[in-house]
Amino acid sequence: MYADKIKDYKIKEDAIILAIESSCDETAAAVIKGGREILSSEIMSSSAEHIKFGGVVPEIASRAHTVAISLVVEKAIESAGITLKDLDAIAVTYGAGLLGAPLVGVSYAKTLAYSLGIPLVPVSHIRGHLSASYLENKELKPPFISLLASGGHTAIIHVKSYTEYQILGSTLDDAVGEAFDKVARVLGLSYPGGPNVERLAREGENNVKLPKMLKGEGGYNFSYSGLKTAVINYTHGKEQKGEEYKKADVASSFQSSAVDILVQKAVEASEEYGIKTITAGGGVVANGYLREGLEKACLKKGIKLVLPPKWLCTDNAAMIGAEGYIQYLKGNFADLDLNAKARVDLQ
Ligand code: KG4
Ligand code: ZN
Repeated sequence: MYADKIKDYKIKEDAIILAIESSCDETAAAVIKGGREILSSEIMSSSAEHIKFGGVVPEIASRAHTVAISLVVEKAIESAGITLKDLDAIAVTYGAGLLGAPLVGVSYAKTLAYSLGIPLVPVSHIRGHLSASYLENKELKPPFISLLASGGHTAIIHVKSYTEYQILGSTLDDAVGEAFDKVARVLGLSYPGGPNVERLAREGENNVKLPKMLKGEGGYNFSYSGLKTAVINYTHGKEQKGEEYKKADVASSFQSSAVDILVQKAVEASEEYGIKTITAGGGVVANGYLREGLEKACLKKGIKLVLPPKWLCTDNAAMIGAEGYIQYLKGNFADLDLNAKARVDLQ
């Protein structure tokens, strides 16, 4: 039996781990050595198939994963210059996600782990985003303050050790990426919204008055639904009155409101907790305005900033390998009854 096979498995410091990610519309595979060295990373996206629907259609994403997964894994193994026999473990995103989507990765990973007789390591996608920083800075060690900003999550986290997280604050309603995507739709921009809002914002100015975001009174919590509604009211109001307005100015003003607060709260947490390192992860961290804001604020305050490159902020499998390695060292192995989950806790 599989469980018996891996019972006496010996953990290796320099383990070569194949990581698989399929929680949303990216099918990705990566090979990571010793938790920090990326031997290969491959991504295929079905995002073009979702554009006409204005968002990810779960059924289409799942079908695309089933077509892409073998190809992506084969490419990752080949470009890492290894064979399947060299693998020490397989890490896979089991959630959070669209359920049918991570299920494809989980089924594939189970089959491969079983046939190779090596451990199957279940990985939370959210923790993966936070662990991308370990790939950017090989010396990075907890504790640090982490800003998580993705399509599903917005949070300021005190990472106490490789496995202990304290959430200092999170969003009370929409996630920041979700707000970007909704505002994109209001401005007539196509999916995926975030990068398109960023592009348009570069042509505009921050001159539209939008409501103040939760500051001191919110602790480290965030609220994005008021900001989103204000953008909707502003654009509809202008259209009803037949008044001209510049969409680029709305994009720029929204981006400033949505992003400045993330930078402020991350820096505040670093100061309050006396932790002089900040890291960031999640798709929104690919935003140039946020990256610049973090860089400037950390420089000014003498805080060390570990910012993964843009491709490690948006969905990828390398970050799943980095987090998978941490779980692997703990011996957190799954049996073949591992199932995909729509929601997972960060803790
Ligand atoms: O981390 P991610 O790829 O998937 C989740 O785990 O949610 O994040 C996707 C989110 C989307 O809401 C997308 O619009 C946003 O990240 N995003 C951006 C940018 N690139 C991706 N938001 C603002 N500016 C960007 N450049
Ligand atoms: Zn993600």
